[in-house]
Amino acid sequence: MANSPSTTNPLAPGWLAAPDDANAFADGLWPSSATRVDGELVIGGVSASDLAARYGTPLYVVDEADARSRAREVRTAFEAEFARVGTSARLYYAGKAFLSTEVARWMVDDGLNIDVCSGGELAVALAAGVDPARLGFHGNNKSLGEIDDATRVGIGTIIIDSAIEVERVAAAAERNGTVQSVRLRVNSGVHAHTHEYLATAHEDQKFGVTLEEAPGLVAAIRSRHSLRFLGLHCHIGSQIFDADGFGESASRLLAVHARLLEDGPVPELNLGGGFGIAYTTADTPTPIRQLAARIADIVADECARLDIPLPAVAFEPGRWIIGPAGITLYTSGTTKAVDVSGASRLYVSVDGGMSDNARPALYGADYSVRIANRVSDAEPALVRIAGKHCESGDIVVDADYLPGDVAPGDLLAVAATGAYCWSLASNYNYLGRPAVVAVRDGESRVLVRGETIDDLLARDTGVGMVSTISTTGGSVIEPVEIPGDVVSTSSTTGRTTTHEQRNTGR
Ligand code: LLP
Repeated sequence: MANSPSTTNPLAPGWLAAPDDANAFADGLWPSSATRVDGELVIGGVSASDLAARYGTPLYVVDEADARSRAREVRTAFEAEFARVGTSARLYYAGKAFLSTEVARWMVDDGLNIDVCSGGELAVALAAGVDPARLGFHGNNKSLGEIDDATRVGIGTIIIDSAIEVERVAAAAERNGTVQSVRLRVNSGVHAHTHEYLATAHEDQKFGVTLEEAPGLVAAIRSRHSLRFLGLHCHIGSQIFDADGFGESASRLLAVHARLLEDGPVPELNLGGGFGIAYTTADTPTPIRQLAARIADIVADECARLDIPLPAVAFEPGRWIIGPAGITLYTSGTTKAVDVSGASRLYVSVDGGMSDNARPALYGADYSVRIANRVSDAEPALVRIAGKHCESGDIVVDADYLPGDVAPGDLLAVAATGAYCWSLASNYNYLGRPAVVAVRDGESRVLVRGETIDDLLARDTGVGMVSTISTTGGSVIEPVEIPGDVVSTSSTTGRTTTHEQRNTGR
């Protein structure tokens, strides 16, 4: 639906032009199946209003076919490009982006391994039935218990992050009668974020060890019979759009890798994750196959220059796989136009916010939004989608254009929320974390159910007691009966809840 030419609002950020059609799904931002049928957003063959009616909002929706085809696409891109230069590539899905048992199974079925970075993530992967040999364990402060559990279940690799961990992992492996494969995480001194990377000589951060420290620690690893050294690891950052930072980092690591080869085998090089995605039309990440080709060329050239054999290379994408496959559905509540210096911005408040998407507040992240339940030819208006939390920084979408007749009760869809939204979600203001639903071939199913008031009260040990102030001034705690329908059956978490969602919490 085309509108008459729109005028750009002076309050809009420079990158955001007023669209001709504020209903259109821009290429590359939305799950591959997203389309409009009779004006309504349909994803995985299921309409937004069906999803909202069945599960309530806010709701995370994952397009299963898209997530899985992205997993295969990134795997085959790196496998093919590294095969072209004469070596292999191994892909790990970074579970921190979003992990549930079913997603873990998708990734493994589609040929990836999985990275975990806590005992909780490890438990999810194991509960999914993933072969522990296909897991890598990260973290700058793994607990002794986590290290022990990981070595005991036969985890594929542990990424050692400090000198102390050499001893801890070696001792745990000995205790559990195993030889543990390990990588050593180093700081390459390269930091990348979106369009630029920064290369420094000295590091001031909590992850990894310096390039200078690496040979000594690798010698320590090699001296332990319970450890098997695989190679160096680095992760240079997130939302990286091109290959330069990876290339610089790979070159720095390979210089040390070459030295390590003088004293023993170094079968692998792990260059981490961080491949960027488009959150708005301003984001233009390099296509993944091109990125893979460029990194493969750099690694091959560098190995030729150093006259060393090409190692197997590993990568750990999270966001690239699951981010664009997910959206969040909200119901709009109040709207208000706010005049700023003669221009006007329409605030649209939704039934979630920073508790289900912390990224705008944490990182100043931008997102894109569309009305999901209908199309409209109303003149596009500059909107800011705000949450319902008690904080002015509680913004879900800082700036986008929507048809100006957006109204209370409209369903809004926010694009590219599949990564680091559910996994960073909180119960701020006692909002329950929303459900995650997968859609595919016209069917939907719950991957992780949403939290109810019952869930929120379940860990509060004072529930069922009331405090009254006694006549002598002290407070007296007494047990009370709270009618079931006050704290359980009819209570919602302040979100727009359906009958079915209430029941799933019980
Ligand atoms: N490998 C390691 C060692 C990592 O630390 C990370 C992310 C990844 C792989 C996966 O990175 P990805 O491909 O997903 O960018 N919460 C932030 C992102 C933090 C990323 C931390 N590490 C955000 O929402 O942007």
